[in-house]
Amino acid sequence: MELSNIEKKVLLRAKEANQKSISVSELAREGFKSMVELMNAISWLKMKGLLKMDEIIKTEYVLTEEGNYAIANGLAERIVFNYLKNSNDFQIDNLIQVLNKKIVTLGISHLKDLDCKIINGKIDIPDPEKVELKIREREQYLNDFSHEKNGELLAHFLKRGLIEKKDVVERVITITENGLTLINAGLELKEEVSQITSELIQSGKWKDVEFRKYDVSLFSPKIYPGKMHPITSFIQEIRSIFLRMGFEEITGEYIQSAFWNMDALYIPQDHPAREMQDTFYLSYKKLELPDYKNIVKSVHENGFKESIGWGYKWNEEIARQALLRTHNTVNSIHYLFENKDKDSFKVFTVGRVFRRENMDPTHLPEFTQIEGIMTEKNASLSMLMGVIKQFYKEIGFNDVKLKPSYFPYTEPSVEIDVKYEGKWLELGGAGIFRTEVTAPLGIKTPVLAWGLGLERLAMLYFGIEDIRELYVSDIEKLKTLRML
Ligand code: FA5
Repeated sequence: MELSNIEKKVLLRAKEANQKSISVSELAREGFKSMVELMNAISWLKMKGLLKMDEIIKTEYVLTEEGNYAIANGLAERIVFNYLKNSNDFQIDNLIQVLNKKIVTLGISHLKDLDCKIINGKIDIPDPEKVELKIREREQYLNDFSHEKNGELLAHFLKRGLIEKKDVVERVITITENGLTLINAGLELKEEVSQITSELIQSGKWKDVEFRKYDVSLFSPKIYPGKMHPITSFIQEIRSIFLRMGFEEITGEYIQSAFWNMDALYIPQDHPAREMQDTFYLSYKKLELPDYKNIVKSVHENGFKESIGWGYKWNEEIARQALLRTHNTVNSIHYLFENKDKDSFKVFTVGRVFRRENMDPTHLPEFTQIEGIMTEKNASLSMLMGVIKQFYKEIGFNDVKLKPSYFPYTEPSVEIDVKYEGKWLELGGAGIFRTEVTAPLGIKTPVLAWGLGLERLAMLYFGIEDIRELYVSDIEKLKTLRML
């Protein structure tokens, strides 16, 4: 039978015990490299029928934190007793002035079980010599304490909470008949090499040494190396997908005017999404608007070219209101405004957006959107579908469909659904910007736009049922989430 070197050592050591059991923790103390290595060897020997391992539940006694404190600083009754002896002042009120109240209360209660009494606010110690002796016994007991210690003071200290009882599992091994037979037939201990070095090769020693065989099915402890937060690495992955697809990254500010977040996107000022429930307004702050506001005003009121507009009186004060951006389409419209002369581009943003929403398993008040716009001469809905499908394919989702939907700034508008475990889930919105958004800027080519929820995608990717889990710092959960 083939045995590794460490298995041979364990077996020989088990034989030395003369068929009695030895505890695994004792073996570990004897210099086996690591507990894992030792346990591995034992389980192999067990499987080969050479060793037997039993688990014994043992009761141990251990000092509690308070027990250790008492050893270092003295028992409460000792502190009180010494003070009384030295000061000759037995008045409890005076004692409390000098010593910590908790110590005094505790100390007195433990002096009481040594026949001391309290009479008229004073401590009466009828037999100081006996008290001294008893306290010494208690001190001695604690100082010499060991796990197995017994005796009548054990109950006393358990009750006081200075010692506690613990059940520990002790593993013991015993050599079997087969193990003994194998040893008696002769076991040769030879140093094994588990890693080849250049020195071994150059010197030619590799010819004489025994190489340790690898077994990839062996138990090994799980390793959790330091890694980025899953959301951070997910964001990086998404960014690199768009960069690989030839998109350029754009960013923007969290604080925006309602003008850029909504008006410039042709969202009417009485649109439900503007209401307080949905948007975090910065009530103290009004922002300056560009001259372009006059065009936006006229588009809202009267339309542009063939559009008849919304037909209401546009209010500049509403548009100047500062807010936390509610979607990243605001970055897209800023980009369009600043690059109106370009006849082709492909840009994307990954960033935080904010909405006054209650938290639930699929909603957060602060979440991340993956936004993008692109244009070229013959840009079309099927091109938009191609980009979106390509993106989801790169993440690992192959089934994507677009369903008719509505956004005030796109026409046609679509909802993006992704299939996961047989169900279609809505992950974003997209469309072609309406001419009311692009024509006033002088843009003639169709602008394809989309906005996708990152956290909802991350839920599918990491197999999480509740969106809030992504931002709860539960180390156990974070350690075991799949890596990208
Ligand atoms: C928008 O925000 C549009 N601006 C998207 C768009 C851009 C359409 C360009 C057309 C053209 P919506 O409000 O549906 O759309 O949000 C887009 C995605 O963000 C949703 O599908 C969802 O995946 C995610 N999302 C929305 N609200 C929350 C929330 N409270 N918590 C987490 N994710 C959310």
